[in-house]
Amino acid sequence: MESVLVRGRVAEVAWTHSRERPPVTLAAADSYLSHTRASRGLKDHGESVHMGTTVRPDTTAVTATDSLGIHDNRTSKSYTIPVSDGAIRAVDLRPIRASERDFGLMSYDPAFMNTASCRSAITYIDGDAGILRYRGYPIEQLAEKASFLEVAYLLRHGELPTQSEYDRWMHDITYHTYVHENVKRFLEGFRYDAHPMSMLASSVAAMSAFYPEAKDIFDPQQRYVSIIRLLAKLPTLAAFCYRHSKGLPFVYPDNDLPYSANFLSMIARMSEPRYEASPAFVRAIEVLFILHADHEQNCSTNAVRAVGSSHVDPFSAVASGILALYGPLHGGANEQVLRMIEAIGHPKNVPSFIEEVKGGKGQRLMGFGHRVYKSYDPRAKIVKQLADEVFKVTGRDKDLEIALELERIALADDYFVSRKLYPNVDFYTGLIYRAMKFPTDFFTVLFAVARTAGWLAQWEEMLLDKEQKIARPRQIYVGHAERPYVSQLDYAKKVSKF
Ligand code: ACO
Repeated sequence: MESVLVRGRVAEVAWTHSRERPPVTLAAADSYLSHTRASRGLKDHGESVHMGTTVRPDTTAVTATDSLGIHDNRTSKSYTIPVSDGAIRAVDLRPIRASERDFGLMSYDPAFMNTASCRSAITYIDGDAGILRYRGYPIEQLAEKASFLEVAYLLRHGELPTQSEYDRWMHDITYHTYVHENVKRFLEGFRYDAHPMSMLASSVAAMSAFYPEAKDIFDPQQRYVSIIRLLAKLPTLAAFCYRHSKGLPFVYPDNDLPYSANFLSMIARMSEPRYEASPAFVRAIEVLFILHADHEQNCSTNAVRAVGSSHVDPFSAVASGILALYGPLHGGANEQVLRMIEAIGHPKNVPSFIEEVKGGKGQRLMGFGHRVYKSYDPRAKIVKQLADEVFKVTGRDKDLEIALELERIALADDYFVSRKLYPNVDFYTGLIYRAMKFPTDFFTVLFAVARTAGWLAQWEEMLLDKEQKIARPRQIYVGHAERPYVSQLDYAKKVSKF
């Protein structure tokens, strides 16, 4: 049996341009596909079938150069399916069937290793070249020249703000920094050792109850207010979580201060009438927030889009993003980097630690490797420079020496080089946060405050994308076939359910 794909014969079909949306549910796809095949006089069996049935606004014809030929060795049938933007639509595989009763061909892609779930105009990454751009602007330029709220505006609106647009954006966000007094009360219900990410996720989810009008997600004004509220209140909630875990009184926002300076004031202010943060710290927070603001379809953004696709309010969708970010393989990695460095204890222990990692006993070099970047993460370069600026104020410590030694040894070791494992953004961020005296378990909270800007832009893009529907993947069932129920319990001892 032939095992290679063979280009199928292309049926002579004139494809007309149509604004009709492609069917997205499988039932709809089924009936659509058989209808279009029948109406175009295409047979299901015994001859090549042209499957250009998902009509796109920007294509008028499927030509030999923008299509994929598939030969099904099970049936000896050939198919041609359209290729657009370097992708085929998985639903175009459905008519490829081994038999009449066959469900149709699916693609199997655990962890979305090679599946695009959306079309997005927000963030561009070239993982091999180490390129990251928001709305076309290189991350290096934004980190050097822009403010975080300017970047948040850019992510949401697609363009940089004019002065008057920026003034209004700043005004609206500043106006909404306060949270309802009851929020303090339920935060006080957490134990002193509650993880701040759990507190943050819970309090953001609770915002949904404070703003029920946010459920009106197709009203542009409601969406705008919800986005403003989330950007405005995240620093306040994050700072309240910090103060609670320290047993310190909550500090209200100081709306005369800019975004990052106000955040640091809510974190650190004690009895002084106004807290003045070190300019190096304010700059570090701004830059780190910009670097973390978006990163296209990462795990937490995918969570926000998937949960948001049920048309829940944005507070609930963002809460789900915070929980996804909490995991040690995602935003939790910066916390894990610090714990790893603490466990290593001294630069002289680095070589033996690296050997342990290479031995594959489960320990990974945290802060190294990335699903997308197969070269130096461009954010990591900026963070490393930023660390130097912060350390000029705080002084270098042994943890930095350990990190530098880890990087030096790993980048020269074939294990890491051959797997294209380079430092990611989290490798040095933890060291900066530590130098600024943030507790280790608070690092991911800082990430969440920044990423809220990206989550909101991605959430709204998903909502307004007419192709999107409730996210609902398929599965390959590998469990039992039908079998009769026969209780394994001892009927004499069986406890009544009622
Ligand atoms: N240390 C040691 N080995 C590693 C590491 C690491 N940090 N990362 C990957 N590898 C190895 C794997 O063991 C595997 O080796 P093998 O081919 O011999 O089996 C190979 O590299 C490929 O690894 P995968 O797990 O398949 O790569 P994937 O793309 O799925 O994982 C991830 C990416 C999760 C980021 C991974 O590199 C990792 O666990 N890194 C450490 C955690 C971390 O820093 N996460 C932060 C990511 S950035 C962010 O979320 C902001």
